[in-house]
Amino acid sequence: KPRLYSGMQPSADSLQIGNYIGALMQWRDLQESYEAFFSVVDLHAMTVAQDPEHLREKTRRTAAQYIAAGIEPSRSTLYVQSHVPAHAELAWILSTITGFGEAGRMTQFKDKSQRYGSEATSVGLFTYPVLMAADILLYQTDIVPVGDDQKQHVELTRDLAERFNSRFGQTFTVPMPVIQQETARIYDLQNPTSKMSKSSESDAGTLWMLDDPAVSAKKVMRAVTDSEGSVRYDREAKPGVSNLLVIYAALTGRQIPAIEDEYAGRGYGDFKKGLAEVVVNEFGPVRQRALELLADPAELDRVLAANAARAESVANRTLDDVYDRVGLLRRS
Ligand code: TYM
Repeated sequence: KPRLYSGMQPSADSLQIGNYIGALMQWRDLQESYEAFFSVVDLHAMTVAQDPEHLREKTRRTAAQYIAAGIEPSRSTLYVQSHVPAHAELAWILSTITGFGEAGRMTQFKDKSQRYGSEATSVGLFTYPVLMAADILLYQTDIVPVGDDQKQHVELTRDLAERFNSRFGQTFTVPMPVIQQETARIYDLQNPTSKMSKSSESDAGTLWMLDDPAVSAKKVMRAVTDSEGSVRYDREAKPGVSNLLVIYAALTGRQIPAIEDEYAGRGYGDFKKGLAEVVVNEFGPVRQRALELLADPAELDRVLAANAARAESVANRTLDDVYDRVGLLRRS
């Protein structure tokens, strides 16, 4: 089977539904036909300031949500990045073949560092994409399913793999990004031209996977729309309604025109009520399952440990090869 790799940062207590629609739903489907590795990238989460106890908790919670959303830890390898030391080790090696200017062109770094200011911007944030490249390349990955915000990082990964292979000999599989279509991108409910995000300040605009269903329903009812009053997809003119239509379609597997037809001549109130029901039906059981898993952290930790061992055996094979090729003297 070809290999698949993807991951998420444990940057909040709950994932948001953009992570679910843009990533987890595809992961769940793809794990059937690929040998899949899914990591909770705790080392990446450290690129902004973290409270240690909270980071540990968020890491468990993120893993529990992967499982609750349908990632099967007996079929796919679901593990915590820092449990496999090879990630940090390969990142160092790759950083030595990454250009300073090349890393500086990453738009996510440019955006974030501008937002934080130069004193609050860590070197870790700068080298973040190199660690991401290490994640992917350690597993001889064929495809990387991500949202379009991560595309540039996967392109850098490809460049680094090709560069390493041509300098030191064939070592890495060059991975292909599998980018979700624009329609899989979910926007903030209160500010529907900016992406829904785990690190957003807009709680009212973010649908959290672990929110109480009643809270999610209320957020849907209060979502920003427009004054036209017709349920119609038009991303430019009607970003709020279009975003709600995309969420509706993604969660029900229906086509947008069919949903437009269903709500033709009815107001936004009806449409939002319908969507609130869809959201509650989808996330009620997911939340329930995640909370059950979190009620037994010892069992969850055991599952993560077993999966980390599986990941490590694959990763260490690649790292060994890399150390040999770059000329490091091996301990005998
Ligand atoms: P992260 O944690 O920001 O996001 C996880 C995944 O969710 C997608 N996503 C969205 N999709 C649709 N609508 C949204 N509003 C939305 N918000 C987020 C993201 O595109 C992503 O696919 N750097 C990565 C984590 C990472 C990784 C990797 C990914 C580290 N190493 C190796 C793949 C392979 C990140 O920060 O994702």
